[in-house]
Amino acid sequence: MKTQVGIIGGGPSGLLLSQLLHLQGIDNIVLERQSRDYVLGRIRAGVLEHGFAALMREAQCAERMDREGEIHDGFYIAHDGIKERVDLNGLTGGNSVVVYGQTEVTRDLYAARDKLGGIVIHNAEDVTPHDLESAQPYLTYRQGDELLRIDCDYVIGCDGFHGVSRKSIPNDKITEFERVYPFGWLGVLSRTKPVSPELIYATHERGFALCSLRSQVLSRYYIQVPLTDRIEAWSDEVFWAELKRRLPDSVAAELVTGDSIEKSIAPLRSFVAEPMRYGNLFLAGDAAHIVPPTGARGLNSAASDIYYLYHALVDHYRKRDDSGLDGYSQKALARVWKGQRFSWWMTTLLHRFPDSSAFERRLQATDLAYLFSSQKALASLAENYVGLPY
Ligand code: FAD
Ligand code: PHB
Repeated sequence: MKTQVGIIGGGPSGLLLSQLLHLQGIDNIVLERQSRDYVLGRIRAGVLEHGFAALMREAQCAERMDREGEIHDGFYIAHDGIKERVDLNGLTGGNSVVVYGQTEVTRDLYAARDKLGGIVIHNAEDVTPHDLESAQPYLTYRQGDELLRIDCDYVIGCDGFHGVSRKSIPNDKITEFERVYPFGWLGVLSRTKPVSPELIYATHERGFALCSLRSQVLSRYYIQVPLTDRIEAWSDEVFWAELKRRLPDSVAAELVTGDSIEKSIAPLRSFVAEPMRYGNLFLAGDAAHIVPPTGARGLNSAASDIYYLYHALVDHYRKRDDSGLDGYSQKALARVWKGQRFSWWMTTLLHRFPDSSAFERRLQATDLAYLFSSQKALASLAENYVGLPY
């Protein structure tokens, strides 16, 4: 097969880029290792920036998001038995976020790709990029016993943190920056009324907790757990009891519990690979960078990469202008690092670090006290949470 842009990975980054390029008449093929059901079974992000929502509209995939997604003008931080509101709208001069699950975003993108006849190949095994430094790179993959080949102009690595794209860059051509946190998030999805119409990020001496939602009948809760914990050790009862302990009494009293419909533990990691280009391979989204989920930046950072890459590829094919492609890595990384800083800061502010000293705990408490004593500090938090400009 032959195409202009070969995209590895059919998560939100790959599908969004595929759809945007297709609408501009740029040929592309997406190779996804998993089945569609598997991809749609992963419960992940829930908070979208307006920049992301705008890109979904440009991709003609926003009808359901605009109908069913909730606009959130603020969220709460709970600490020391109280909850304090961060007024995103007031602090940013009218900005907000959209609460709409990544699963639904992905479902809408698949539907849009189907409608336009986009090519998304599932269960593609052993996807391998070749000749990335040449002007004629190509991809090979297996389906059953068959080995197939796709020739393309560019390869885009949208295959997440564990994908093959980043790993195909020679070690001396890439630098990795990483911080692994000594805890994970145990997440539970339940068909219950959310405890609060707006998200609550809670810091507590027993550890962090987050009350989030997907809709008014679907709740998503997380608690910080040691990395050594096994999911089997967390029955629903034990989970709800621990969550309640970490919330202010007034919130815990309102919590509606029920059976979990999904339960998983995700490790927390900060990671950036530089540069985001090697020859004619471009990395985007989790393939190039990971954040701990505390600041709700991951999917949003992926979307800004796609925004830059989409415009760069359109300029290349439409105007023969390669400045966007040449500047992609630098431009994307400048925003990526701001997302890294913010996610690291939110994580450090709100989690309990097992080996923290008394000094560090005092600083953490002071950081929080400062935040709620300063409109400027709150405005900085809000500006980052709603998303910095592209
Ligand atoms: P992925 O979603 O990882 O997609 C990559 C795709 O590539 C996958 O479908 C995978 O199967 C496929 N693939 C992998 N290897 C190969 C291969 N070799 N060949 C072919 N295909 C391959 N972000 C936010 O912005 N807001 C939030 O509120 C938020 N909450 C989160 C909560 C949790 C618990 C977690 C874990 C993450 C959260 N994130 C959040 C982060 C967000 O989910 C990710 O940043 C996002 O999924 C990145 O999308 P992506 O398409 O780049 O990568
Ligand atoms: C979620 O709803 O899954 C969610 C929301 C906010 C975060 C992380 C995850 O910061």
